[in-house]
Amino acid sequence: MYNRGQFPKTRLRRLRHNLLVRDLIRETILKTDDLIMPLFVRYGENLKKPIAAMPGCFQLTVDKLEDEINELVRLGIKNILLFGIPAHKDALGTDSYSDDGIIQTAIRALKKKHSDLLIITDVCFCEYTSHGHCGYITQHENKFDLANDPTLALLAKQAVSHVKAGADIVAPSGMLDGMVQAIREGLDNAGYETIPILSYSVKYASSMYGPFREATEGAPKFGDRRTYQMDFANANEAIRECALDIAEGADMLMVKPAHAYLDVIHRVKAQFPELPLGAYHTSGEYAMLKAAAGKGWLDERAATLEVLTAIRRAGADFIITYYAKEAAQWLSE
Ligand code: PBG
Ligand code: ZN
Repeated sequence: MYNRGQFPKTRLRRLRHNLLVRDLIRETILKTDDLIMPLFVRYGENLKKPIAAMPGCFQLTVDKLEDEINELVRLGIKNILLFGIPAHKDALGTDSYSDDGIIQTAIRALKKKHSDLLIITDVCFCEYTSHGHCGYITQHENKFDLANDPTLALLAKQAVSHVKAGADIVAPSGMLDGMVQAIREGLDNAGYETIPILSYSVKYASSMYGPFREATEGAPKFGDRRTYQMDFANANEAIRECALDIAEGADMLMVKPAHAYLDVIHRVKAQFPELPLGAYHTSGEYAMLKAAAGKGWLDERAATLEVLTAIRRAGADFIITYYAKEAAQWLSE
């Protein structure tokens, strides 16, 4: 098709000269509808606590969270991903599945006022456990391990309690084997067969979550997450993770992080085009842009819209990003 000698008959610049033509033929359009804003809710009252490594992001008490939601709705953002920071962390992360837990309380408050808000909850234990790992911990001699199967029932319990409080979608992020199946069974048995699961199917053990761990006070107290999150050197394995999640009943897939993993996003979309795919533009990716912009080294608006559009172009249908609010503002101008 592309024979030599087509120039000067074929000139690709012809389609670039006129702004209106460029608008007409643009392949990827970033929309506010595609964005999900992550938010951190904490106990207490009248508190908006800045997160140092994430300028513009805060831990919010429920009353302050309501103010923030009003602002988001005003900007046209309808989708949020909620994370809870409990008053007390313990070995089992009991606050995470308590009907009076921080996240359940927040969801009930939001649902009272906003029927038009899509509330997605992160289903995991690391924000709630004293040791900071994503589930039940066992010890063999001097070795600690995340106990996979004993954690599954607790994950299901947590997901059910989120939905009971009013969550619209649950998003398990722990990278445990069998988590999607356990949560699907838990939801179905509780009568919530219409609630979708957005699985963090392909989640890498990444340094890009550094600022998030400050935000949720959830860094592991010992060890790291490499026995459950994926090795960032692997991409074939991503396909196996997705295939398993689909078999277990996942309704939507996710790749995380996003910016350095566009190849993975592209492969997952090519392999499973029939499933909606999300990408998580993580705290570290946000922090890098904020830092460079803060120094005046990057044009924040241009660089951010470029990165977010590239994530969509790679194959993500929607993006979880701390830039959702600013992007919505920019897209409306
Ligand atoms: C909880 C969870 C994490 C993130 C989302 N859910 C932290 C982790 O796995 O260590 C990271 C989000 C971000 O960095 O923005 N499992
Ligand atoms: Zn976790």
